[in-house]
Amino acid sequence: MKLHESLNIDLNEINHEIKNLVTRDKDVPKKSQLAQSILELTGSGGKRLRPLMVIVGSRFGRKPAGRRTLQLSAAAEFIHVASLIHDDIIDNAELRRGEPALHTKTGIQSAVHIGNYMSARVIELLSKYSGDKDRYVHDLSSVATAQLCLGEYQQMEHVFDYDLTLEQYLEKSRNKTALLMATCLKVGALSAESTDEIAQLLYDFGEALGMSFQIQDDILDFTQSADVLGKPAGSDLRQGQVTLPVLIALKDAELAPVIRRIGPASSAGDVAHVLELIKGSDALARSEAVSQDYLAQADAIVQQLSSFPAHADLETLLRYFAGRDH
Ligand code: FPP
Ligand code: MG
Repeated sequence: MKLHESLNIDLNEINHEIKNLVTRDKDVPKKSQLAQSILELTGSGGKRLRPLMVIVGSRFGRKPAGRRTLQLSAAAEFIHVASLIHDDIIDNAELRRGEPALHTKTGIQSAVHIGNYMSARVIELLSKYSGDKDRYVHDLSSVATAQLCLGEYQQMEHVFDYDLTLEQYLEKSRNKTALLMATCLKVGALSAESTDEIAQLLYDFGEALGMSFQIQDDILDFTQSADVLGKPAGSDLRQGQVTLPVLIALKDAELAPVIRRIGPASSAGDVAHVLELIKGSDALARSEAVSQDYLAQADAIVQQLSSFPAHADLETLLRYFAGRDH
């Protein structure tokens, strides 16, 4: 069963709202490359994890979810897709979800503008919520988006930095991945008038889930084939990303000097050799254990929310993240 089916969420409704974000902008001609690219990108599948989190969050409110919840869920996907457009440019990635990345089709300049527009369109959409009690709505377009950009910047600052600390790695992962997920659950809850305490618990749940997600992503870069990843395996190492498996392997006195020799000019053979060394060490199992720790933290929060029927949806999310195979 697909995740949205297990959560009993109608994906068509979300997809319709996502489409509206561009088609309802009267300043954007329907046949323009901008509109067509966004429709193609947002229509090309994807698990809609973040929108689903917004909807699940809303099930912890005191009122039923309404149009605002749906708009927030569409906004979350827009921010996510915008960030991936920019990410693929930065990473020089040819493929996204197995398809040619946008910049390979439109050129880098257009793709940058399309990403910027999507991010700005969310601000435009949400700016109509301007009352004092609506303030939380902007957490998605302001705080979470700023954290996303900051995380990406922190990652770039530490390319091939083998002295990166665990704390720096975790902070970058939190900013880049976990806090958007946390915010999705929180704004979903507040959009249905949850209490602040419950919204905060959901935020913490989303943060723990997101940390586990990012660590899993870092592990998959070592374990999955290019076919499954939709991009070449080992891309992180090749691009100088010092992820958790690398950080753990760097603690091994024999592995450390070999890893440290990998730099921008390393050959594919050298990178492949180090990949195999790391795979042959206990670094992946130990990274998996850290990821499991975050899932256990998330699980403890679910227990605190057990009086809500929707706690079962958090368990569904947890199971999905625990068994994630991309
Ligand atoms: C995926 O990273 C990328 C992110 C989670 C965030 C990227 C954020 C930006 C580029 C900032 C720009 C933001 C906006 C809103 C315009 P990855 O390369 O580790 O994962 P991948 O394997 O999916 O490429
Ligand atoms: Mg990338």
